[in-house]
Amino acid sequence: MNKPINLFEYESLAPEYLSQIVLDYYASGAWDEITLRDNRTAYAKYKLRPRMLVDVSQRNLSTKILGKPIKMPILIAPMAFQCLAHSEGELATAKVAAELGITMVLSTMSNTTLEDVALAADVPRSLWFQLYVHRDRSLTRALVERAEAAGYQALCVTADAPILGVRERDRKNKFTLPSNLKLANLASMANLEIPETEDESGLFTYFAHQLDSALTWQDIEWLQSLTSLPIVVKGILRGDDAIRAVEHGAKGIIVSNHGGRQLDGAIATIDALPEVVAAVGNKVDVLMDGGIRRGTDILKALALGAKAVLVGRPVLWALAVDGENGVRHLLELLSSELDVAMALSGCAKVENIDASLVCKFS
Ligand code: GLV
Repeated sequence: MNKPINLFEYESLAPEYLSQIVLDYYASGAWDEITLRDNRTAYAKYKLRPRMLVDVSQRNLSTKILGKPIKMPILIAPMAFQCLAHSEGELATAKVAAELGITMVLSTMSNTTLEDVALAADVPRSLWFQLYVHRDRSLTRALVERAEAAGYQALCVTADAPILGVRERDRKNKFTLPSNLKLANLASMANLEIPETEDESGLFTYFAHQLDSALTWQDIEWLQSLTSLPIVVKGILRGDDAIRAVEHGAKGIIVSNHGGRQLDGAIATIDALPEVVAAVGNKVDVLMDGGIRRGTDILKALALGAKAVLVGRPVLWALAVDGENGVRHLLELLSSELDVAMALSGCAKVENIDASLVCKFS
């Protein structure tokens, strides 16, 4: 097999390695999947305005997030159930993140315990923990304490999922986990598992019963009182919410619509980014996810004020196709595209990427 040449080729190959149920779970968005598509197509409205005759012979993709150095402005987004893609699942993803000097955000819903993932990463410095706040607050507290004890560097609190968005493909498939896979972080503490249901996605049902849909900004302060880790709030799409997040102690914001999996019709993330950056970009790090497939997508996001981006589904496709090697190759492809895009637009360093590099055509 020739190695895929870009992220899209991994996406085309992945169905050969996944069952239809798993493919549907990973790929789907909510309802009509409008936001899922918009996340991708919105990049085309932003045009690059490259600078010429700049010395770009020495290029450097490194940057800092939450004050800590990372080798490139790319993080691995939190994604549930990675052992559905490959037997090594989260362990493979974490190893590659540590090796490449980037950050992986581990999902609460991983099939591998957060402690085992920290061991695999060897450098827990490369890990953040994504938190779903459960109704059972002692369980939630225990998750936070475990993440801190295992060396995770930040707590990424998902704000856009008081209940789960309706993904109709999962509803049709009655999505659940195969019996050999567990909700590893929760099974041992509380015997929780994704249920099998008659006419619904098991994950939807799990969220409805276990997650705290009464979560508010005050809970961000409660979480901060439990931990010395910085809190990053994920799922913000408006400037006023970003200001609230900062007022309640967040040290970072992720502009995200959950990959189009929550509220269908929500604004594309690249379109939401400028308002959030204008509101809080001088106070905290603003990151963005959604539809990143090319180095030029990253360049546009950085030009519009994101400090870094998170890549989601493509990592799963690469994991499915070739495990750890696939994930490594995919991230190399993306970073090399960013490197070329920076060179061609007169940016030798990430700090050189500024707002003048993009303009919007509607
Ligand atoms: C889980 O977080 C999902 O979006 O499926």
